[in-house]
Amino acid sequence: TSEYSLRPARISEYIGQEKVKDNLKVFIQAAKLREESLDHVILHGPPGLGKTTLANIIATEMGGSLKITSGPAIERAGDLASILTSLNDRDVLFIDEIHRLSRTVEEILYPAMEDYSLDIVIGKGGQAKSIRLDLSRFTLIGATTRIGLLTSPLRDRFGVQLSMEYYTDEELKEIIVRSAGILHFEISEDGAYCIARRSRGTPRIANRLLKRVRDFAQVKGKSIIDEETAMEALKRLDVDDEGFDRIDRKILEAIVHHFKGGPVGAETLSFFIGEELDTIVDVYEPYLLQKGFIMRTPRGRVATDRAYHHLGVSRDSSEGSQL
Ligand code: ADE
Repeated sequence: TSEYSLRPARISEYIGQEKVKDNLKVFIQAAKLREESLDHVILHGPPGLGKTTLANIIATEMGGSLKITSGPAIERAGDLASILTSLNDRDVLFIDEIHRLSRTVEEILYPAMEDYSLDIVIGKGGQAKSIRLDLSRFTLIGATTRIGLLTSPLRDRFGVQLSMEYYTDEELKEIIVRSAGILHFEISEDGAYCIARRSRGTPRIANRLLKRVRDFAQVKGKSIIDEETAMEALKRLDVDDEGFDRIDRKILEAIVHHFKGGPVGAETLSFFIGEELDTIVDVYEPYLLQKGFIMRTPRGRVATDRAYHHLGVSRDSSEGSQL
């Protein structure tokens, strides 16, 4: 069974993001009552929380089809023009990482979003002339991990702005039980909760861990994943009690040991541990911040007491004294 089938197809099957869902249901219903397309939507939040899934659901609920692309994939104005002219009424164009669109491409989007029109220039120099094409009534769904990097003219053209939050352990447990059902195997409530608690608030991680735990259970000849089986598998996957992986631990260890608790800038940290700056800023930091392991200060990130405690280090001697 492919990962895609684990994704809910309808809004009624989508677990969590209650606020986003409640609002979206109203906007979708209202647009349908008026027989209009849905206004453009910007989804922001950390990766793996279901932005693409939601775009797919919106397209289905609106009765249109979904076209998926990303900011970096649209290199030239012509690339975007050919996508836009291929859309029909009510279709959804999903642009992932929309904060990475080039300025020239972004400027094509403004009239497309506002007036469903496309201005194209034909010819060169003195012969050049501009013609205006009408586009179908499509819905643009933009996704970004960093709303702050969107230019304000672009951000302001999205009528619907939705913020995706990390899922609760309870919601992740429900998602895991649902996924196990789709993948045709049994998991106990405890087993599901055990994985949920270590999935960093992220369904993509929950489903990935679930599949790997299933591998361990299968090879051991277990017919059901219980807490013990899950715990043992997660240990072998190097996932700790907070759901941190090698990189989370590298980040915490670097701040605590090498930078004496901080503050340290994201660039310095990225250089020191040898991970991409964007990965640290988009993926790792938001969760460590939300869980209270690090704090942001004007001069950089600092480790909190929780971080020291998690690493088993006391504040005074950062030399690794066991608590
Ligand atoms: N699978 C991945 N994300 C999901 C969600 N939010 N609800 C249900 N199943 C999911």
